[in-house]
Order: sequence, then C-alpha cells, then structure tokens
Amino acid sequence: MQTVLSVDGLTKDFGRIRAVNNLALEVKAGQVFGMLGPNGSGKTTTLGMLMGVVNPSGGLFTWFGETQTNQVRKKIGAVLEHPIFYPYLSGQKNLELNALIKQCPTDNIPNVLELVELSARKDHKYKTYSLGMKQRLAIASALLNDPTVLILDEPTNGLDPMGIAEIREIIKKIAANGKTIILASHLLDEVQKVCTHFAILQRGNLIHTGPVDEVGKGTETVEVNAEVDNLNEILLDFSGTSSITKESGFYRVSMRDGFRGKDLNRFLFDRNVVATHLVTKKKTLEQQFLDILSSNPQK
Ligand SMILES: Nc1ncnc2c1ncn2[C@@H]1O[C@H](COP(=O)(O)OP(=O)(O)OP(=O)(O)O)[C@@H](O)[C@H]1O
Ligand SMILES: [Mg+2]
Repeated sequence: MQTVLSVDGLTKDFGRIRAVNNLALEVKAGQVFGMLGPNGSGKTTTLGMLMGVVNPSGGLFTWFGETQTNQVRKKIGAVLEHPIFYPYLSGQKNLELNALIKQCPTDNIPNVLELVELSARKDHKYKTYSLGMKQRLAIASALLNDPTVLILDEPTNGLDPMGIAEIREIIKKIAANGKTIILASHLLDEVQKVCTHFAILQRGNLIHTGPVDEVGKGTETVEVNAEVDNLNEILLDFSGTSSITKESGFYRVSMRDGFRGKDLNRFLFDRNVVATHLVTKKKTLEQQFLDILSSNPQK
C-alpha cells in the first residue's frame, strides 16, 4: 500500500504552549484515518501544519514521499474551517467561483454536487441552506479538483443526528471511490463508524495508533454464573482470568489478552461445572479509549 503521508517528529509550540509534541504517524492510500482527541489536544494544529497553513516548530512530514510543493498541494482537498461562500449566490455559482480561485475546470461541478446530494438545491441561494447542506457544499468544494486526499476537521460539528448521518454516508462514499481521507474528531462514535485507522492525541502527544477493527478485538469481559458454591475460586484458577468482580446474579471476569469466553466455558466444563449464564462482552471503543487515556496520565 502506497504511503500517502508520513510524519516524523512534528512539533508545534505556541509560545510556552506545546500544541503538538513529536508526532509520528503514517497514512496509507485508501485509509480513512481518524485523529481522535479531546478539545485542545492538537488536532487542528496538526492538520494546519500538514496543509501548510501553520509553520511547524520542528519535525518533518512528506506527502507522497515529497516535502510540500505546489504540485503535491493539488492532490489534497481540505475542509478546515467554514470556507467563505457568498450568501446571496447559489451553491452552483459559489462552486464556479471556487473553481476559478483554485484554477480548476468547472466540469467537475455536477459530479461533486451529485456526490454530496445537493444537485436538486444547486440553484438555491447559499443563505437558504441548512448547516448540513453548507457543510456538504464545503466538501463539494474541496473535491472540485479531484484530489487524492481529503482532509476534514470535525466534519459533523454542530449538525443534528440526521445531518451527521448524511455526512458520514458521504464520507463513506468518497472513501469507496478510492480517496484517502484524514479526519479530526473528538467523537469516538464517529471514528468507529467511518474510520479504518485512527490515532489518539492527548495534549499534543500521540498515545495510540492502529486499525479501528483491532481495537474492537480488545480484551473481553465475561459474565458467568453456575450453581456451585466455590465458583469464585474456580474462576480464579482459570489462567485467563485477570480480575473478578461479583455483580448481582453473576461474576464478571476480565480476561487476559488472547483469552476468550469460550476458553472459560471449556475450562468450567472440564471441571464438571456447567455455566447457567455465560455472556461475553467486548469492551466498547469508548471504554478502551478511556482506558488508553487513563493509562497515560503522565502526558
Ligand atoms: N493560534 C494559536 N495561538 C496560541 N495557541 C494556540 C493556537 N492555536 C491552537 N493553540 C493551542 O494549541 C492547543 C491545541 O489546539 P488545537 O486547536 O490544535 O486542538 P484541537 O484538538 O483541534 O481542539 P478542538 O477539539 O477544540 O478543535 C490548545 O492548547 C490551543 O489553545
Ligand atoms: Mg480543532
């Protein structure tokens, strides 16, 4: 897989505030890469540096193996802040103006309007658009020159659930067309739903990076009960047990890495214990995210 973006040691200081600290990551072609982190963790600053609008204090990055040049810049479309659209002009006219500014042909306008589902409203004035439609027009504008990479900063901020769902569908469609997408979000749910890979930033530090589905494969907890008196001891004997808590009606067993509910079931069965209740619960991305954050308290 071709490396689209490679970042090494990227750092940004605003006076005494270190907004981004020694960031290293790689984005490969076709990934939907999520930068996840709480407010102020350095996501927007990172995207700003990658787009060449914020000067790094240190470190390097390459797009397509090259340090930033105008040629490379044309392969990247970005929706960083709300772009300037003219309220009294239609969506169509606004895109024509943007194409002029970007020095790209207007041929692509019908395609991008179709992609963001604004074709039917293209001749309506921008000021009559809903927030979701405005955001979709911004995405359309970023796609005008058919970039290889699309960068989005908090693409669903401020939208209602319907608007959020629409934007997510559009992001998936764009990814399915083969584009690489890098998006910043503070929403776990968003990253889980649309991203293939993600990085977690905390106060400018990268504290985790990897595929999204691997996170889902994380450690399990198993709810278990059986009609034996010493179940607690038996469960403690199981080599896959990391810890046990007693809940009302069952024990909750946190499993060590690599152990599954079925391993525990087999262990019990070998001891002639038949479970009356055995339910495997995967950690949600949210739990894992909180675990990752709390296991990095020093940063
Ligand atoms: N122009 C600036 N001048 C001074 N400090 C800045 C500037 N831009 C960002 N910062 C600081 O850098 C840190 C990172 O901010 P940044 O906007 O990159 O975070 P973020 O992860 O995008 O947050 P949010 O989720 O709120 O958008 C914050 O402490 C912020 O106050
Ligand atoms: Mg931000």
